[in-house]
Amino acid sequence: MAKLALRVNGGNRAVESDDPDVPLLYVLRNDLGLTGTHFGCGLAQCGACTVLVDGRAVRSCIAPAKAVAGQEIVTIEGLGSPDRPDPLQAAFIAEQAAQCGYCTAGMVMTARALLASTPRPSEQQVRDALAGNLCRCGSHARVIRAVMRVASATPGGR
Ligand code: FES
Ligand code: FES
Repeated sequence: MAKLALRVNGGNRAVESDDPDVPLLYVLRNDLGLTGTHFGCGLAQCGACTVLVDGRAVRSCIAPAKAVAGQEIVTIEGLGSPDRPDPLQAAFIAEQAAQCGYCTAGMVMTARALLASTPRPSEQQVRDALAGNLCRCGSHARVIRAVMRVASATPGGR
């Protein structure tokens, strides 16, 4: 039995698992009930499972939970709330940047990591950052617009 001490969305969470290599995604969804992070491919190829770990975009389907113990994990639930959305969440709503929504949390978390390191990215930088996040519905153009909406509202020029 593996015992894990995780930092998730600003809180301490203790989890036990039979699998010593249990992926972070399974812990988030199955043990902690944070179902906003989605399982897409399970192979690090779609981005649906992306969360932040110490500010970096990490594909939680292949990240063993034990490897991120003690690091600050943020899921879509920890980014904002309906009452107090993160600016990116608000921009996604304003641009209607989702259709089925399956890929959306991963898009938002990937974009959040980009904006943390590059607050005013070019459109090409946004496209490059999100190139590995797949959307079967074709929402990419609106996703790019949502991220650029936040970037253009950020003070300071490039
Ligand atoms: S479910 Fe993790 S990248 Fe697809
Ligand atoms: S909105 Fe449906 S997969 Fe992206």
